[in-house]
Amino acid sequence: MKILITGGAGFIGSYLAGELLEKGNSVLAIDDLSTGKLDNIKHLKEYSGFSVKIDTIMNEKLMEKMVKECDIIYHLAAAVGVKYIIDNPLRSIETNVCGTEIVLRLASKYGRPILIASTSEVYGKNCKVPFKEEDDSVIGYSKLYRWSYACAKKLDEFLALAYFKEKKNPVVIARFFNTCGARQTGEYGMVVPRFVKQAILNQPITVFGDGKQKRCFSYVGDVVRGIMELMSNQKCYGEVFNLGNDKEISIEELAHKIKGMTNSKSPIHYVSYEDAYGDGFEDMQRRVPDLSKIKKFIGYSPKVDLHEMLGLIIKDFKA
Ligand SMILES: NC(=O)c1ccc[n+]([C@@H]2O[C@H](COP(=O)([O-])OP(=O)(O)OC[C@H]3O[C@@H](n4cnc5c(N)ncnc54)[C@H](O)[C@@H]3O)[C@@H](O)[C@H]2O)c1
Repeated sequence: MKILITGGAGFIGSYLAGELLEKGNSVLAIDDLSTGKLDNIKHLKEYSGFSVKIDTIMNEKLMEKMVKECDIIYHLAAAVGVKYIIDNPLRSIETNVCGTEIVLRLASKYGRPILIASTSEVYGKNCKVPFKEEDDSVIGYSKLYRWSYACAKKLDEFLALAYFKEKKNPVVIARFFNTCGARQTGEYGMVVPRFVKQAILNQPITVFGDGKQKRCFSYVGDVVRGIMELMSNQKCYGEVFNLGNDKEISIEELAHKIKGMTNSKSPIHYVSYEDAYGDGFEDMQRRVPDLSKIKKFIGYSPKVDLHEMLGLIIKDFKA
């Protein structure tokens, strides 16, 4: 098959491209390198079936050509990372709303099945544990830009499901929960690569808030396997799935764990949310996926645990 990956030079996109190529598919990627890197995909050049366009998904003419050429689409291009969203709200909303609208409209025009990468952020400040797919989104004040990401992604979900209902175009929505692995950058607010880098360089490990907030981290290889299986099963069309790992760890414990695994001398420093992200920043205490739906549909469960994943990231960073 010929597969289009938007955001193909990004962290998850580059792993997905590698897996699809390894299975004998051709991959067309598009990426504007706003947060992605050519370095992420340099190892893919050895595959004759790989090609990449450095351009934006807002370029409708190019997108139409690429959608026409492919059999299925994984739509991963997005403005991501809490810090990036807060620093670039306009660009983020445009990409995550208008960009996705373009990709979905073209997918429907040419009848191409499409996976939409959504996020656990859509649950917002909802305090429920764990989250089931039908649970409410509790979104904060519009002046707090972090919520624009959750709103945009939720709108993408509505739009994709509307295309499924009215135009019968196959869509699958996967809500990723904190996905990590080698090659991820800590520049835009991702905690694991930031802690690993700080620990290895013996710099202070900066925990935002009191560190008691908990997260569930999943390995990128598990997530990529999950979306490929979702797309290959027609029962999943028109459905929304949580995708991740349901084992929790507090951010403070994570800092100590990474410090221990790297034999680091780094002190652990606590930084207020205001100092990290500006006034009025809101965070969630817990965010746990209920994975029973994805397990029921495709038998999914994560294979790589946090310890193994951190080992891979640390090894890659040192290399
Ligand atoms: N990593 C996570 O924990 C996580 C969690 C939830 C959801 N997601 C979603 O998964 C997808 C991939 O995220 P990632 O973690 O690999 O981040 P990433 O930043 O590495 O990947 C996003 C890619 O999209 C590209 N991009 C951005 N705007 C573009 C545009 N206008 N045109 C073309 N390319 C553009 C970026 O350059 C980047 O390569 C995103 O849709 C994100 O919202 C990721």
